[in-house]
Amino acid sequence: MSSGMEIGFERMLNALKAVGEETRLRILALFRSGELTVTELVTILRQSQPRVSRHLRLLCEAGLLERYREGTWIFYRLAEGGAEGALARAIIEYIPFSAQILRHDAERLAEIKEGRKGKARRYFRENAADWDRIRSLYVSEGDVEKILLEVTADMKIDDFLDVGTGTGRILEVFADRIGRGTGIDLSREMLAIARVNLEKSNLHNCQVRQGDMYDLALASGSIDLILIHQVLHFADDPSAALRETSRLLRVNGRVIIVDFAPHTLEYLRDEHAHRRLGFKDEDVIGWLDNVGLASDPVIHLKGQSLDLSIWVANKKQ
Ligand SMILES: C[S@@+](CC[C@H](N)C(=O)[O-])C[C@H]1O[C@@H](n2cnc3c(N)ncnc32)[C@H](O)[C@@H]1O
Repeated sequence: MSSGMEIGFERMLNALKAVGEETRLRILALFRSGELTVTELVTILRQSQPRVSRHLRLLCEAGLLERYREGTWIFYRLAEGGAEGALARAIIEYIPFSAQILRHDAERLAEIKEGRKGKARRYFRENAADWDRIRSLYVSEGDVEKILLEVTADMKIDDFLDVGTGTGRILEVFADRIGRGTGIDLSREMLAIARVNLEKSNLHNCQVRQGDMYDLALASGSIDLILIHQVLHFADDPSAALRETSRLLRVNGRVIIVDFAPHTLEYLRDEHAHRRLGFKDEDVIGWLDNVGLASDPVIHLKGQSLDLSIWVANKKQ
């Protein structure tokens, strides 16, 4: 294995036995990117929940997948570390994704991902006009903005990108520190408000446009500073979003992610379209490291009902 990790004969045999079955190989193929819940897998595979759960249990016991709970949702993902995780990734590289059955699974997975995006889109379409009020309920904005300016005080920022810019507040905060600023967001309704806000404040060095955090359609190595402020908890594949972020950064460029620390406010899923109930420091640091971004110590801010974390990372040489 490319990881150079020794797996041992018995463990390897176990892992290969677990994956040597049609449905379980299909399941492994579905984990090429991102995390999935049992309900999502049941929809894709069109098998009963008990059957799918049994397959998942076997894949977890063999060390290929791991399971973790967040509130009432249980997620599955490829095992992060260890030889079995490396073996799972190696097997995935050889999976013939052009096989008809896998193409069908991939189509249904794509529908699910579209559906998730649709949920966030609907939420922001309905709440765009009210977002600036909702935003201030979550966090003490002044404290966060002060820290953002402090941790970038050493930088010369020609090109700035705000991913999931919403109503453009972060562009306003940075406008007089940067050469050019771009805000990208999925929601046309949020962007319409951002445009009015930028115009009102006469911020002619900033512009916004529609786009997706997984495919930002900007040149590689073209940005000095990227902000991802309260956006990652909508992502179904945060690590893929961070890979795209890293692609855009210049060497020594910086990314700052502001998001919630792990919490249990389940209603944020139902009422505010959140997918993730916050993030552990080490998960985000791991994703950043995997895409060539070296993290500074994480900054933590206590909130009334929700705590915030600020991850700062720099693109390695
Ligand atoms: C909670 S708001 C935060 C907006 C802004 N960063 C702020 O702090 O006020 C999250 C924003 O992320 C956007 N968003 C969600 N999924 C996205 C995606 N896949 N690509 C780009 N933007 C996305 C939403 O449309 C929304 O405007």
